[in-house]
Amino acid sequence: MNINNHSLNYSKKPKIFNHPERFVEGWYWVIPSQKISVGEVKPLSILGRELVIYRGEDQQVVILDAFCPHFGAHLGEGTVEGNELRCFFHHWKFDSAGFCVEVPCLEEPAKVRTKSWPTAEKYGLVWVWTGETPQHSLPFIPELELDEFDTTFGKRLIINCHPNIFMINAIDTQHFNTVHKLLSEFNFAKQEINENSITFTNTTDESPDSFLIKLIRPLYKKPVNFSLCYWYGMTGFITIGIGILQFNIMFASRLSEAGKADIQTIFLAKKRQSILGKLSNILILWLSQFVIEYFIRNDAKILRTIQFKLKSPIDFDQAIIDFVNHLENQKALKWENWYLDRIRDGELDDVEKRPKREKWHDELVND
Ligand code: FES
Ligand SMILES: [Fe+2]
Repeated sequence: MNINNHSLNYSKKPKIFNHPERFVEGWYWVIPSQKISVGEVKPLSILGRELVIYRGEDQQVVILDAFCPHFGAHLGEGTVEGNELRCFFHHWKFDSAGFCVEVPCLEEPAKVRTKSWPTAEKYGLVWVWTGETPQHSLPFIPELELDEFDTTFGKRLIINCHPNIFMINAIDTQHFNTVHKLLSEFNFAKQEINENSITFTNTTDESPDSFLIKLIRPLYKKPVNFSLCYWYGMTGFITIGIGILQFNIMFASRLSEAGKADIQTIFLAKKRQSILGKLSNILILWLSQFVIEYFIRNDAKILRTIQFKLKSPIDFDQAIIDFVNHLENQKALKWENWYLDRIRDGELDDVEKRPKREKWHDELVND
């Protein structure tokens, strides 16, 4: 690999990557499914937009814009009735598509509607699609798309860097050696799965000296797989290992205010029916958690203070450039209102006008 200056075809300033007020239309994690039970309604703020979530009698989760189309009362104060939601203020009732279906003092419901957003549940999470009609199913690992998983929730991280910066950490091959001391050579082959998803697969065999390889080497001799799959640059899956000893870790992130990342970590193991299979899944999920927390501890120091600029990449940064280029071609929405953000050619990205991130503020949220 060439370590001298490079011939990367990345020259433009990114318009989506690392932008504090722009994100790609897609599925984003909302809350753990178990935190919204039948008959419950909760206020939410996701990607800057005020919403409410409730679960009707039919078990379906519904996400609506938060403010009642009558006088603007917050529907989070309302009550769930069957599969519908009644506003606390004047008791107008709305169905799961957001249509008004009852006004107590009128014979006919008012012809108004609050916006309803597509929802889904998988990996123990509720997800929302930030556009009109979902363009594809929920984020998945291509070779495991149809599999069922046992899952364990890891920590929720609110971290003082943009989700894109958190995500590229897993393809930043130089820091594997400098920060994590893996002492290995990595070389990624990329594959664009669709408009919103890209994978990177390591094509080199790791050195037997690395921490991770030492951990799993006694159990099998075949080459170890290390691959990443990203959706919208904000949800990423890491797959390490092969066969029964395969670790799958999902970082479901979304853009929080001032360009911060709000990340839910989830560990996944392909469901197994036998007693031995179930026991090995418990072990795998526990080990994945241990390994990932080890890595994040080392990365946290950098991620909470970094002022990322893609100024002088070298050939070793090719995967990051590929990640950025793929992201730049996706459909961007504006943080807070979720309208399509038309990005003009030659638009200046005025870094000075970006919201300032607070210094030294990151948290591990255990909830
Ligand atoms: S504000 Fe909701 S019914 Fe009047
Ligand atoms: Fe790292």
